[in-house]
Amino acid sequence: MRVLGIETSCDETGIAIYDSEQGLLSHVLYSQIPIHADYGGVVPELASRDHIRKTIPLIKQALADAGITAAEIDGVAYTAGPGLAGALLVGASIGRSLAMAWQKPALAVHHMEGHLLAPMLEEHSPEFPFLALLVSGGHTQLVAVEGIGQYQLLGESIDDAAGEAFDKTAKLMGLDYPGGPLLAKLALQGNAKKYKFPRPMTDRPGLDFSFSGLKTSAANVIAKEGNSPQVQADIAASFQQAVVDTLVIKSERALLQTGYKRLVIAGGVSANTSLREQLAVLLKRYGGEVFYPRKEFCTDNGAMIALAGYFRLAAGQQQDLTIGVTPRWPMQDLPAV
Ligand code: KG4
Ligand code: ZN
Repeated sequence: MRVLGIETSCDETGIAIYDSEQGLLSHVLYSQIPIHADYGGVVPELASRDHIRKTIPLIKQALADAGITAAEIDGVAYTAGPGLAGALLVGASIGRSLAMAWQKPALAVHHMEGHLLAPMLEEHSPEFPFLALLVSGGHTQLVAVEGIGQYQLLGESIDDAAGEAFDKTAKLMGLDYPGGPLLAKLALQGNAKKYKFPRPMTDRPGLDFSFSGLKTSAANVIAKEGNSPQVQADIAASFQQAVVDTLVIKSERALLQTGYKRLVIAGGVSANTSLREQLAVLLKRYGGEVFYPRKEFCTDNGAMIALAGYFRLAAGQQQDLTIGVTPRWPMQDLPAV
């Protein structure tokens, strides 16, 4: 079965073609970052308009790269939520309409399920059940995963997501949007022990997170010590270590609670090398293993949407003819496969 995947939930247009026998046939990604950088964040209307310009040309390119025609596509999967309503509507309208024109089934994919299943695109692929730590720009969640669509939310951020905390702290330091990867790079030159950032909500039981206070700590340091390159690097390293420690502490609790020995990390922040390394150390202690997608599939992409769509289409699920999106969509509402 060959599935065309379309991702337009935020500031990336991602298109891919997944083949159940041969794996990924092609994937193309267009990032809108330069469009939004001047505004310090994603401007929803600009995002929608740019997805309109890019989606169809990229679908043509993905077909050409795969060396196939539209007639050889067996199903179309598009992100229907969560995300920006206008941006989602572009991918949903195009995806649902193409499937109708091609007389093939369509599937409305949950963006976070896409992230969660993305490690299955790799050779080192996790088996069920596993614990998933989803860390993106919009979500920080610990999920017990028993199978596709069998998700139990164990904990989540009560305010800013981990990626959002990275981006907001980076912005305070004057770094460009999205600041997460830039801050991570600066952290390599800094002293993680220089400043004492809190490890929020680790001193009480539970698996929820809170990251909104960390940017205040960063703002206080900048107010006191200035924003010199060395201060920036030390803030970056100290901040990153606080986020990583918090994620490691909560992941360990969740592993003990579930008894699982496999941990999947996915979403943009799973590209963070320090987080990967420190979670690997944790899992090694428990005789377990960490799984994550290659870096380009940590952040938003079409490949994860094609794969998630494939699993559900192969199980006979499909979307009716309605073109609809679900900007707020709890992952636990998904049906099991
Ligand atoms: O999953 P994603 O591409 O989009 C959402 O669904 O939100 O995640 C983007 C987020 C941004 O906040 C970005 O700063 C963060 O992931 N990010 C990182 C790194 N690479 C991306 N944060 C920390 N370290 C990184 N290396
Ligand atoms: Zn995402």
